[in-house]
Amino acid sequence: MTPSRPLGVARGLLLAALLCAGLAAPVRPSAATPVKLLSPADNAICMACHAKRDLARTTADGRTLSLHVDAADLAASAHKGRMCTDCHDDVREIPHAESIARVNCRRCHYVDKIVGATFAEKSAQYRESVHKAALERGNARAPTCQDCHGAHRVLPPTDPASPINRSEIPATCGRCHLAIYSDYRESVHGRALRQGSPDVPICTDCHGEHNIRAVDDVNSSVNPRGVVRTCSHCHAAEGIMAKYGVPTEQYYTYRESYHGVANQYGSTTVANCASCHTAHDCRPSADPLSSVHVNNLPRTCGKCHRGANPNFAKGKIHVVVSREASPMLYYISSGFKWLTILTMCALVGHIALDLLRRHRSRPTR
Ligand code: HEC
Ligand code: HEC
Ligand code: HEC
Ligand code: HEC
Ligand code: HEC
Ligand code: HEC
Ligand code: HEC
Ligand code: HEC
Ligand code: HEC
Repeated sequence: MTPSRPLGVARGLLLAALLCAGLAAPVRPSAATPVKLLSPADNAICMACHAKRDLARTTADGRTLSLHVDAADLAASAHKGRMCTDCHDDVREIPHAESIARVNCRRCHYVDKIVGATFAEKSAQYRESVHKAALERGNARAPTCQDCHGAHRVLPPTDPASPINRSEIPATCGRCHLAIYSDYRESVHGRALRQGSPDVPICTDCHGEHNIRAVDDVNSSVNPRGVVRTCSHCHAAEGIMAKYGVPTEQYYTYRESYHGVANQYGSTTVANCASCHTAHDCRPSADPLSSVHVNNLPRTCGKCHRGANPNFAKGKIHVVVSREASPMLYYISSGFKWLTILTMCALVGHIALDLLRRHRSRPTR
């Protein structure tokens, strides 16, 4: 779409002037009167300076920011054919102002956009996120579109080099959430991801993609009310877990436990899956570093049960009451079951007999 645009006179002259001047560094030409750009301007005007490899500036905190732009990046991206000024829309003359605003991707990617960008709903979801809220509160470290997607080399998620490719997402989030990323990498989930497993969760499977919410937001999938559902998408699914030899009854045994029942009725203080297994460092219980390894249970339970000693944590947590797995519990539990049934029968029988006696002994007229 680019090359067919007729050359504007001003643009032609400007380009010629730029090229003739040899663009000695520092590149800013001393032209007293800035030349207005046609809109959209030809990329060649910008590249006359920005193709230079050594074009750079020093940031306020003393770092060197390269201002070199590789045209190949843009050409390989989802935005190939776009003009520089489509995104840098505040550059309207050359030489341009020293400070240029951050690119607003939502200029094109917004809901109800009729032409152009696909997936407009992503912007709407981002608007609900903890990141957007943080940005609006003035936290400049919270991510906007380009922090996750990249600037000039925006690639679709199917491209293995994309920062939003499945295998890259943890590292993309991890640039800012460092400690969590390092836990995740060593967890059973993170290790399996590196080995190419398509079934383990990455950050966005548990947190959502654009509508990532704060943990204390009741609508968050990782809020204490949501965690059980989030983990059990997979951990209650026989089809997924069988592939890895991981049992699924933990979900059901949890639901029947004291913690599980209270959680279902809305308690946020009882233990959910992540309170015992951690959210980001899940490991099999046989791993000595696991929060549910037998040696670590007093500390894990002790977070909430003050003074929990090894005895407190003894016995299986996810109790499967079967004769083979735990005969003692099985017999006690069935003993109680039968005791309850027999007691109920005796009670009902007693009442029935009592009614019968009253009926019989009613005086007849
Ligand atoms: C004559 C050379 C020249 C031309 C032509 C030019 N620039 Fe620049 N550009 C510079 C210089 C020099 C800087 C560094 C600004 C500074 O720090 O003083 C810069 C900085 C920038 C920045 C980064 C601002 C920052 O520091 O974060 C952007 C974005 C930019 N230019 C976009 C463009 C676009 C888009 C065009 C084409 C419409 C363009 N430039 C044309 C010389 C040029
Ligand atoms: C799809 C939108 C888009 C297009 C098209 C685009 N840019 Fe950028 N550009 C960005 C984003 C995003 C950044 C990162 C800084 C920011 O967030 O504003 C950036 C940063 C820059 C910088 C600052 C150096 C850096 O890497 O941070 C320069 C210089 C620049 N662009 C020049 C250009 C030139 C020249 C073109 C045309 C060849 C162009 N841009 C086309 C989105 C775009
Ligand atoms: C000038 C309008 C415009 C701006 C600004 C813009 N985009 Fe786009 N973007 C588009 C269009 C149009 C497409 C569709 C390209 C296609 O399908 O060929 C697109 C495609 C995309 C895609 C790929 C979606 C797909 O179709 O697979 C992503 C991701 C994306 N843009 C992210 C960004 C990010 C991040 C920024 C900011 C750095 C940005 N866009 C800025 C117009 C824009
Ligand atoms: C916190 C990181 C993050 C932020 C911020 C973010 N995105 Fe995304 N984006 C992702 C991830 C991850 C995907 C999903 C990749 C996948 O489908 O697996 C994605 C997917 C997309 C897609 C679909 C691409 C495709 O081809 O399927 C578009 C379009 C998009 N984002 C646009 C935006 C826009 C516009 C913004 C800013 C309003 C934005 N994103 C902000 C991480 C982010
Ligand atoms: C298996 C599901 C799961 C995965 C995968 C996951 N998280 Fe979490 N995340 C949670 C749960 C549950 C919580 C809330 C419980 C807690 O605070 O420990 C949480 C809390 C958080 C928090 C806020 C609490 C804090 O400690 O600051 C951040 C930030 C976070 N996760 C980022 C990430 C990032 C980044 C990744 C990827 C590297 C990731 N998460 C992967 C489930 C997950
Ligand atoms: C550019 C840095 C950056 C990137 C990239 C980033 N985040 Fe964040 N994130 C932040 C900041 C800063 C906050 C703190 C917001 C605040 O002030 O509450 C935050 C907050 C969060 C929270 C809420 C924590 C809480 O206290 O409840 C979660 C969850 C989260 N991010 C997950 C993610 C995930 C998942 C990704 C990747 C898809 C990601 N983040 C990518 C910077 C980033
Ligand atoms: C997207 C699916 C998915 C989600 C969501 C998920 N997991 Fe997993 N999890 C797996 C898979 C698959 C494995 C087996 C990985 C392997 O063994 O290589 C696994 C393994 C585990 C293991 C180790 C089991 C063993 O014996 O090896 C624990 C513990 C675990 N997950 C806890 C959790 C917790 C806690 C949550 C929620 C915070 C959660 N998982 C969410 C898919 C998931
Ligand atoms: C009160 C703490 C606690 C809670 C809550 C909890 N677990 Fe466990 N979980 C354990 C302990 C301890 C073990 C290892 C010993 C055992 O099996 O009893 C374990 C074992 C497992 C295993 C077997 C793999 C292994 O490493 O032995 C899986 C899978 C699992 N839990 C998933 C879950 C899921 C999913 C939830 C939420 C629905 C959950 N757990 C809730 C403490 C807990
Ligand atoms: C996130 C906090 C938390 C964690 C971690 C936790 N619990 Fe609990 N648990 C509670 C709360 C709250 C109750 C409700 C009764 C109470 O306050 O003592 C409870 C109740 C119980 C009960 C039934 C009531 C009782 O006091 O007899 C048992 C048994 C129990 N927990 C065992 C454990 C074991 C064993 C572990 C470690 C594997 C553990 N819990 C880890 C919060 C937790």
